[in-house]
Amino acid sequence: MLLCICLLFTIAAATSAQGISTADGKIKMTIVTTAGCGDTVNFITKQLSPVYDKFSEHLILEFVPWGRTRRNRNGGLVCQFGTKDCFANRVHRCTLDMLKNNQYNQVKYMVCEFSLRSAYKNADLTCAKNAGVNLSELESCVKTPKGDILDAEDEAKAAEPMRVVNFVPAIAFNGVSDYSVQRAARTDLKTLVCGALQADPSTRSSVTGFC
Ligand SMILES: *[C@@H]1O[C@H](CO)[C@@H](O)[C@H](O)[C@H]1NC(C)=O
Repeated sequence: MLLCICLLFTIAAATSAQGISTADGKIKMTIVTTAGCGDTVNFITKQLSPVYDKFSEHLILEFVPWGRTRRNRNGGLVCQFGTKDCFANRVHRCTLDMLKNNQYNQVKYMVCEFSLRSAYKNADLTCAKNAGVNLSELESCVKTPKGDILDAEDEAKAAEPMRVVNFVPAIAFNGVSDYSVQRAARTDLKTLVCGALQADPSTRSSVTGFC
């Protein structure tokens, strides 16, 4: 019996050493997405959505809809999956900005976009409409300099995670990018988040039953 307990502690310690930690009881995730990307669809719908439903109060999420976007010689955007990808990413950026004081709605919005793929496939604003944003304000953000400012912000935020992880979605925890942690997050986000929340005495009791 004693031996088993020791072994369990050893495994838990090893897991958290390779994993992630909380900061003030929270885990900040930066998620670099791009609309046309199947791996982003999988991550958001299969990993992030169920984990967010259970642990929303412990997560601080920042979406960066930029992916592998580059600039052409004139400063225009060149996106991994073409002009549809560019358009949808800009819709995502503008909508996320309009929802910036409501993380819950931001997450539900991104889950909608990566489930229906409506902005990407059909230039359709159903998910933004469902999220309750003002569509005429959204359309003007997509077309105007407001959208350009958001482009530059996300270009800057995506640079480090994309350089280190070189994969979309790139996922950074508490501002740190690491390929093996990103891979663990893509394959089993729940285990990674549980490890961090169980290792923190301030959050341990609140996740009992979920982890
Ligand atoms: C949407 O925003 C526009 C421009 O700010 C405003 O004139 C309009 O009344 C808004 N529509 C709704 C339904 O709130």
